[in-house]
Amino acid sequence: MEGMKKRVLSSSVPPTMVLLFLCFSVLLMLPMVSATRFMVGGRMGWNTNFNYTTWAKGKHFYNGDWLFFVYDRNQMNVLEVNKTDYESCNSDHPLHNWTTGAGRDVVPLNVTRHYYFISGKGFCYGGMKLAIHVENLPPPPKASPIKSLAPTLSSKGHIFLMPIVFAIGAAWDSFIYLW
Ligand SMILES: *[C@@H]1O[C@H](CO)[C@@H](O)[C@H](O)[C@H]1NC(C)=O
Ligand SMILES: *[C@@H]1O[C@H](CO)[C@@H](O)[C@H](O)[C@H]1NC(C)=O
Ligand SMILES: *[C@@H]1O[C@H](CO)[C@@H](O)[C@H](O)[C@H]1NC(C)=O
Ligand SMILES: *[C@@H]1O[C@H](CO)[C@@H](O)[C@H](O)[C@H]1NC(C)=O
Repeated sequence: MEGMKKRVLSSSVPPTMVLLFLCFSVLLMLPMVSATRFMVGGRMGWNTNFNYTTWAKGKHFYNGDWLFFVYDRNQMNVLEVNKTDYESCNSDHPLHNWTTGAGRDVVPLNVTRHYYFISGKGFCYGGMKLAIHVENLPPPPKASPIKSLAPTLSSKGHIFLMPIVFAIGAAWDSFIYLW
């Protein structure tokens, strides 16, 4: 059985086809593994001399995603403020103080709305301010055979490998059958 499968594969299926098929199945999986943890500022982190408006531009933030702020805990902090205070860099009455003291703060984006973050201690004036709009997740794509294989892993990111391995296995099997 095993030997037969191998022979069928090696004799008639170009490897690039297999690869393409696998990539395609993984792509189909992506909408299900949708919760994203955004490292604010990318490699720069939460820092001075960086434009967070530019950073956020073109990104989609969805309900269920997280922001991850990494910074110098001795200098900056992470405060959520309203729009007025975001614009004026006023840190006197934050809506939420996300600073934990470790210089690594995680903010769950669990409400569909605008969020405004600034660093206090004067750094907001230097550009440490971030405004984002959190959207609802787009509706899932039309049912695919792969989707039905992993119905319980619908939104959270932790169990990332399982469904993919699962899907690849399944895709592989059907692929062998097809050929
Ligand atoms: C933001 O909060 C300040 C102070 O609490 C208040 O004066 C201002 O009107 C608020 N702005 C918005 C847009 O809610
Ligand atoms: C925010 O919380 C941290 C940790 O509890 C605290 O050290 C800091 O003073 C707070 N900052 C503000 C502006 O409330
Ligand atoms: C969103 O997350 C915050 C912080 O963990 C929590 O306090 C709040 O209850 C959550 N809101 C919703 C609507 O889940
Ligand atoms: C960031 O860039 C935008 C244009 O993309 C500009 O309007 C804004 O003033 C810049 N912000 C800072 C703090 O330099």
